[in-house]
Amino acid sequence: MARHLPIHSACGGCSPLKPAFDVEALRREYPVLSGKTEGKSLVYLDSACTALKSGRVAERLAEFYRESAGCGGRRSTHLLSQRTEAVLEEGRRAAAEFLGASSPEEIVFTSGTTEAVNLVARSFPYGEGRREAVVTELEHNSVLLPFHDLAEKGELELRICPAPEGRLDLDAMEKLITDRTALVALTRASNAAGGVTPAEQVCALARRRGACVLVDDAQYLATHREDAQALDADFIAFSAHKLGGPFGVGVLYGKKHLLNRLGRFKSGGGTVRSVEPSGQGLSVAWLDAPARLEAGVPDFGGAAGLAEALKLRVSLPQDALREHVAGLVRRLAGGLAKHPELRVLGRAEDLEQGALVSFAPVHPGFSPADFGLFLNHEDPERFIAVRVGEHCAHLLHRRLGVEASVRVSFGPYSTQEEADLFLDALGAYLREACR
Ligand SMILES: Cc1ncc(COP(=O)(O)O)c(C=O)c1O
Repeated sequence: MARHLPIHSACGGCSPLKPAFDVEALRREYPVLSGKTEGKSLVYLDSACTALKSGRVAERLAEFYRESAGCGGRRSTHLLSQRTEAVLEEGRRAAAEFLGASSPEEIVFTSGTTEAVNLVARSFPYGEGRREAVVTELEHNSVLLPFHDLAEKGELELRICPAPEGRLDLDAMEKLITDRTALVALTRASNAAGGVTPAEQVCALARRRGACVLVDDAQYLATHREDAQALDADFIAFSAHKLGGPFGVGVLYGKKHLLNRLGRFKSGGGTVRSVEPSGQGLSVAWLDAPARLEAGVPDFGGAAGLAEALKLRVSLPQDALREHVAGLVRRLAGGLAKHPELRVLGRAEDLEQGALVSFAPVHPGFSPADFGLFLNHEDPERFIAVRVGEHCAHLLHRRLGVEASVRVSFGPYSTQEEADLFLDALGAYLREACR
């Protein structure tokens, strides 16, 4: 059973109780927050890049490597291998439950969101009359570029839905999805503009035209929950590391009948029932999904770490978590709005739905790269980490007319004090650089 972290009440004796999010209890789960970074306290505001890892995940990984022996059961069949295989399947079950999949067989392990998207894009059974893919200006390069590659080779036509001011244009999306559309690929939460996208409506539009939808949940799941069946997306991708799990492990959820229709993105060990000589070639009996899509030895330890990260993630009270993160975004966006030297990306009213705020310089004295270093070095007590640059969202930056931005992103463990420390440091930088 999931262990719920405490929810404390702002007013113990009052009724009805309004639960607040006990961020201090959660912060004790993360060793890096109680240690020193470059000799200073860490103010980690780069969770959109990767989430902090809890002590429990680190322990689980160490335990797995300390105690396991033998490669998973699709190869050797001795007891040790069966135990290793059970770890993989436990991770698969945890991921299936987390996403509300109808079965663990709808979960394919990948190395991350990037590989999951490439798998779908490059092995989708595009039909003769359906050779178009629709993506959006909000996409991370890991979604945009696989489709671009295919378009460049003439294998499909790529259509890009605009997102003026960082908000998806649903009317344009409706026109772009036609009877020739095979796939729509859409982020659920932009990693640069913040907010969330109307994925439910896009799925409904696609369904009406008989197209499939791939939802990129890389940024969404750290502070939102997904219900794959309610959303009715055909494919969903996410990375373990953005949820506090290990690097190099990710998940592709897919409806079972579609996973079995995907071509083989990679072939190899663990994917076949038999291989027989046949004439000058081979006769191969492939396994069903997910095995047929998981060639090679999988990351058993990664699956164990993912399962552990998900235990902590699902233990967080969801409504209180969202309220907590929305409060952080509100506080930060409110502070940023006071500075005419900057321009916040995305529409102000959309930001609270997400977990990050990005801004670009208006004043020529503001350099995002310089500011990033200033945050690391200026304060003798604190090391503040944010991300500066284009965040692999080059297209969105171009469409917003911005060369580079500063992204401040929150995790469940982020605090109002951290948002305030960032705003104080920003004020100090502006006083120096933008006089
Ligand atoms: C929205 C979004 N999609 C996809 C990715 C790619 O994730 P990964 O590099 O873990 O494969 C990222 C990573 O930052 C992201 O933010």
